Amino acid sequence: MAGYILALDQGTTSSRAILYDDHARPIKIVQKPTTLKTPKSGYVEQDANQIWQTQISCAHDVINQAGLLATDVMSIAITNQRESIVMWDKQTGEPLAPAIIWQDRRGADYCKQLAAEANERGNRKGSSMSEKVRNITGLRLDPYFSASKIAWLLEHNPGIKERVNSSQGSQIAVGTIDSWLIYKLTGGEHFIDITNASRTLLYDIHKLAWSDELCACFDIPMTILPKVLPSDGDFGKTKKGLFAKQIPIQAVLGDQQAALFGQGCLEAGMAKNTYGTGCFMLMNIGTTPKLSEHQLLTTIAWQRATLPNHADNLSLGQMMESGKRLLQAPNSTASREVTYALEGSVFMAGAIVQWLRDNLGIIKQSCDIERLAQQVGSSEEVVLLPAFTGLGAPYWRSDINASISGMTRGTTKAHIARAALESIAYQTYDVLIAMQQDSPHPLTELRVDGGAANNDLLMQFQADLLGVPVLRPKDTEITAKGTALLAGLKSGLYDDTTMADSWQLDRRFEPSMSEDNRQQHLDKWHQAVKRALIEV
Ligand code: G3P
Repeated sequence: MAGYILALDQGTTSSRAILYDDHARPIKIVQKPTTLKTPKSGYVEQDANQIWQTQISCAHDVINQAGLLATDVMSIAITNQRESIVMWDKQTGEPLAPAIIWQDRRGADYCKQLAAEANERGNRKGSSMSEKVRNITGLRLDPYFSASKIAWLLEHNPGIKERVNSSQGSQIAVGTIDSWLIYKLTGGEHFIDITNASRTLLYDIHKLAWSDELCACFDIPMTILPKVLPSDGDFGKTKKGLFAKQIPIQAVLGDQQAALFGQGCLEAGMAKNTYGTGCFMLMNIGTTPKLSEHQLLTTIAWQRATLPNHADNLSLGQMMESGKRLLQAPNSTASREVTYALEGSVFMAGAIVQWLRDNLGIIKQSCDIERLAQQVGSSEEVVLLPAFTGLGAPYWRSDINASISGMTRGTTKAHIARAALESIAYQTYDVLIAMQQDSPHPLTELRVDGGAANNDLLMQFQADLLGVPVLRPKDTEITAKGTALLAGLKSGLYDDTTMADSWQLDRRFEPSMSEDNRQQHLDKWHQAVKRALIEV
């Protein structure tokens, strides 16, 4: 079979489109930046129309620049920044407000209030609101997730709540970025993939359905939520006239889940860390959801068809014979097996380097940081605590601020650059320790991807701190590849061999730091964290 997969990768700072050939090799990439707006402290927004426009123009450009036609494209695969939300009018197709981005903390008071009110009222099972949220969703009651962002919009955007509660209620739609793109691409479908649904704080990861209890707690009418589909569900075809042919959308995954899939972490115990705007470490934990005891998140990694592609045409007897599970309905989440992951989300990674570039001006381009950091052999006593939006896993403290400590008269920008890189590795170390405590599988290696994974200094320091080898694949654009692979498997363009061949080692970083040195570094970091936690 021949053809191409068009992967759309809508991230926090850019939209990208990448074409993959029939061996899952990337043949062309087009990227366009998107603008983040911070109109108030704690607010992070994007123009939802800009997200769509940049994404669709990348899609058209990449096909043209590759010298292909839309008729060569077999299927579209989507991966996206998670938790961010868009609310729109289904009649006009226009957004009702700017997209509220995952980094936005405006829902913090809402979450606090909800926890306090629920605790005051007491609830049937006597558990706190935080426990209820954790038990149902595997997540934390935190403004990072979508629910408080949706609740905030319904509460504060004039007229929306009235419209939702009026006869026009069915015109209002809300969704994560995948939902928004699917709606615009198909000209009207209102779907969400299950991995994105699992990041909303409204989805029951055990029952595999929206939680009416949590929707009621957040006062979010279930009528405005999208229908949840498996990650390789049938998300519809592109609307007529958008491309020269109507292309089916055959895979959708949140970006971190896509990276886990693209890294080939298909067995329980395998883990990857993506060094993007933030750092996201995910470990495949198999088909049983295990709640973390160490401040990590339990999330849905993917839900795939277990049947061969032609299964819908098989007789029951043929299905039983093939030993595969029977699908009750091809587009139903209820009939398919789910793979779960433990996740540690660190809010600031590449964003620290951007801060050094844009706010301090000590580097011109992000890639200059490695050269600058190499000018000194060590950061000495300097520690950069990158709590610019609080600290994520495993601390989950939105109330602490960023700081640079341990500076002397001799401190230079090179020390600060080195401390910045080290802070990314320290945060990853803290997440890994929590993951090791939660998981029965000892971590034997860590697969890495994302922009900063190309930084050798950082990767070596990471291996030294973790004490396990860090494996960097040749293709670090693993997020788009993950969703492209899933679409290719679904459409029959790829098979297990394509999947296995698509991951090739670029470099293996072996731990080489002495135990004393490693311990000194970790003590320095943990003292700085402790000080910050005590100070607030
Ligand atoms: O959870 C947020 C994450 O999905 C954003 O990823 O790569 O766009 O910063 P990225």
